[in-house]
Amino acid sequence: MSEGRSQSGMIRAANLLALVLAAGGISVLAMVFKPQPPPEAIEVASSQQCMECHPGVAAEWQASHHGFAFENPEVRKLSQDFRNEECLACHAPRPVLAFAPGERVLARNSERKLGVDCLACHALPSGGVATANPNPRKNAPCRPQTVTRMADVNHCAACHNQHKTVDQWKTSPPELRGQNCLHCHMPPVFRGGGRRGFDHSFNASHDPDSLRAAVRLFGSWSGDQVEYGVENYGAAHNFPTDERSRAADMQYRWHLVGEEPGAWQQRYRFRDPYRDEVDLTNTQLPSGESWKETLTAPPQAEALEFRLLYKTNPYMTDEDAVVVESMLLKP
Ligand code: HEC
Ligand code: HEC
Ligand code: HEC
Ligand code: HEC
Ligand code: HEC
Repeated sequence: MSEGRSQSGMIRAANLLALVLAAGGISVLAMVFKPQPPPEAIEVASSQQCMECHPGVAAEWQASHHGFAFENPEVRKLSQDFRNEECLACHAPRPVLAFAPGERVLARNSERKLGVDCLACHALPSGGVATANPNPRKNAPCRPQTVTRMADVNHCAACHNQHKTVDQWKTSPPELRGQNCLHCHMPPVFRGGGRRGFDHSFNASHDPDSLRAAVRLFGSWSGDQVEYGVENYGAAHNFPTDERSRAADMQYRWHLVGEEPGAWQQRYRFRDPYRDEVDLTNTQLPSGESWKETLTAPPQAEALEFRLLYKTNPYMTDEDAVVVESMLLKP
């Protein structure tokens, strides 16, 4: 008993010694690495400030359609150079986080040429910037704060539901829906120092690879019956998406024995027409769905060639369109 007590007394003494040594070590360390005062908070006033400290994000954003939203010639033409002021609301918006989810965003008066800028998505009404990161470096100069709405569909919905893209996403097949829009439009990238970031290029219909990721052609040949079609297997909303002027055209031509292939036949148009057009049927291809038809092959047919063209406006010629995909089907 007494032996045991004296032993534990020794252990206590040893612990005390270790503590004293550790404390001394810490104060030496503290002298070497004097804690730096946190960098001064910036007063968030312009997206130009953000771009100086976040050059990687800035480069992606500058090449994106968010960065181009005010200067875009297509938008200027349709809005009569923004004489139609209604168009400013989403093309040169105030910070969306100053509005409740579902509330209409309003136009801003300063630096309109920056379009949908850093402040539009990140600026907090109380100062500082919003991030979905649960553990941001809180004392960084821009004072990031965790705001879960940043990575929520409501964030995008502030501007992206006027043609129902968000509503379509909500009813898309679960395997395509992902967490939300960011799943496909903001894939992870790596920033300097190995920090994980999210791509601000917002690739979509202006990028041929994204278009190809949206759809897949298929076909089969049996006797003289040839079935062909297209499936929206990669967009969690209608294809083509949202913007009313978009059109995708399905075309085909037969290859006959001993002949050059004939002219392309226009077969079907996927599109949501403008209010003032004659036929207002929406023929866009919903997420996860297919369009297909069966043709009877002419006797000398040795192949059916079909293709899907994408047009950013419905009057674009076939030559100017993007060939999303084409297929040569043989018996
Ligand atoms: C003086 C430099 C500086 C300026 C100006 C600045 N930031 Fe930052 N920002 C930083 C640093 C440093 C971090 C911390 C990065 C890290 O965690 O490694 C940061 C972090 C962030 C984060 C959080 C990243 C994450 O995933 O945790 C966001 C979002 C952000 N900044 C956006 C902005 C925006 C928007 C602006 C313009 C209003 C801006 N910043 C201006 C330096 C700056
Ligand atoms: C403040 C308004 C606003 C918010 C918020 C917003 N966008 Fe946009 N977005 C726009 C506008 C305006 C355009 C079209 C710009 C142009 O082409 O002139 C656009 C274009 C796009 C495009 C099309 C790019 C292309 O090449 O066709 C994608 C994809 C996109 N946004 C995704 C998102 C996602 C995802 C979110 C949510 C994280 C989001 N946006 C939040 C206004 C906004
Ligand atoms: C499963 C992947 C996926 C998800 C999730 C997704 N998209 Fe897309 N999106 C695509 C693909 C692929 C395209 C290109 C084909 C097209 O234009 O339809 C696209 C195109 C777009 C465009 C370009 C429209 C145009 O006419 O230029 C916008 C805007 C857009 N998406 C917004 C959104 C928004 C907002 C959400 C969330 C509600 C979302 N997307 C969710 C895959 C996705
Ligand atoms: C259309 C909305 C939108 C615009 C415009 C936008 N961001 Fe973001 N940003 C987001 C979303 C959404 C995320 C991902 C969720 C999160 O981390 O908060 C993000 C993440 C970030 C991050 C952390 C992840 C990373 O990639 O490093 C930084 C830093 C950032 N943004 C800075 C900026 C700067 C600087 C600008 C202007 C050049 C800008 N953002 C423009 C929506 C936007
Ligand atoms: C409620 C928000 C909102 C308002 C208001 C708005 N837009 Fe847009 N606009 C968008 C979004 C989001 C896109 C991205 C493409 C999409 O959604 O398909 C876009 C895309 C466009 C494009 C396609 C640009 C390209 O290069 O592909 C044109 C053109 C356009 N808008 C013109 C206008 C005009 C003209 C007005 C005013 C009558 C207007 N917009 C008002 C949100 C808005």
